[in-house]
Amino acid sequence: MAYKACVEGAAETAPVVATAPSGEAVVRLEQVRKSFGANLVLDGIDLSVDPGEVLVVIGPSGSGKSTLLRCVNLLEPIDEGRIFVTIAARRVGKVPKSEAVARAHELLERVGLDGKARSYPHQLSGGQQQRVAIARALMMRPHVMLFDEVTSALDPELVGEVLVVMRDLAKDGMTMLVVTHEMQFARDVGDRLIFMDDGKIVEQGQPNDVLDRPKAERTRRFLRRTLQLADSLEELTIEEGGVE
Ligand SMILES: Nc1ncnc2c1ncn2[C@@H]1O[C@H](COP(=O)(O)OP(=O)(O)OP(=O)(O)O)[C@@H](O)[C@H]1O
Ligand SMILES: [Mg+2]
Repeated sequence: MAYKACVEGAAETAPVVATAPSGEAVVRLEQVRKSFGANLVLDGIDLSVDPGEVLVVIGPSGSGKSTLLRCVNLLEPIDEGRIFVTIAARRVGKVPKSEAVARAHELLERVGLDGKARSYPHQLSGGQQQRVAIARALMMRPHVMLFDEVTSALDPELVGEVLVVMRDLAKDGMTMLVVTHEMQFARDVGDRLIFMDDGKIVEQGQPNDVLDRPKAERTRRFLRRTLQLADSLEELTIEEGGVE
C-alpha cells in the first residue's frame, strides 16, 4: 500500500499524510516557492515525475537544484505551493535478522559489491562507497530515489561504475530524480531533462532535444560553457559575470 505525503507551504500544521490513488505521479510539485532570507531560491516550480521515469536536472551553480531535491525529500520546509510524494507504507516491527542479512547481500550483489560485505567504509574507494550508499537507500524499498551530483567528487575513472549502477536501477523501473553534470548519462538514461536557472525551470524536454537544440538563450549559454569546459580551456576568456 502506498501513501502520499503532502506538504504545503506556509502550513501551520505538520505535513499531512493522505492516501492517494495509484498510477499517478510519484512526485508532484505545484507552484513551489522557497527563500532563504531575501534569497528566492525556488521561484514557482511546477514539476511531476511519473512512475518509472528518470528526470534529470541540470543548471548552473546556485540555481536551486539541491534545494529542489531537499524539498522533495521533505528535508526543507517550503514557503508556498504544495509537494506530493508517494511514500511506502512500512511494516513497523522487527525484520528477522536472517531476512535483513539476505536482503543486504542481495543489494550489495546488485551494485557489484557483495565481495566487500565485511569491509569498513574507509577500506572502500569513493565509487564503491557511493555504490554502497545506493544499496543502503534501496534497503528502504523507496518509490523514488533522489541523486544529487553523486559522481562529482569522484576520480574520473570511478564515475562510470556508479553511473552503471544508476543506469541499471533505471532499467529495472526505479523512479529517479537526478541532478548531474554528466551529460552523456542524461542522454542515455534520462527520460526527460530540465534546465534550471535562478530558481525557475527555463526549459525541459527529451534530453537529446534540450541538449542539441536548446530553445532558450540561457540554456544555450550554459551548455556552450559546459561543453567548452569539457572540451578544452583554450578558447575561454574571463568576461564580466564569469567565463564565456
Ligand atoms: N541552508 C541554506 N541556507 C541559506 N542559503 C542556502 C541554503 N541552502 C542553499 N542556499 C542558497 O540557495 C541557493 C541555491 O542553492 P542550491 O544548493 O540549491 O544550488 P545548486 O543548484 O544545488 O548549486 P550547485 O550546482 O553549486 O550544487 C544558493 O544561493 C545558496 O547559497
Ligand atoms: Mg547542489
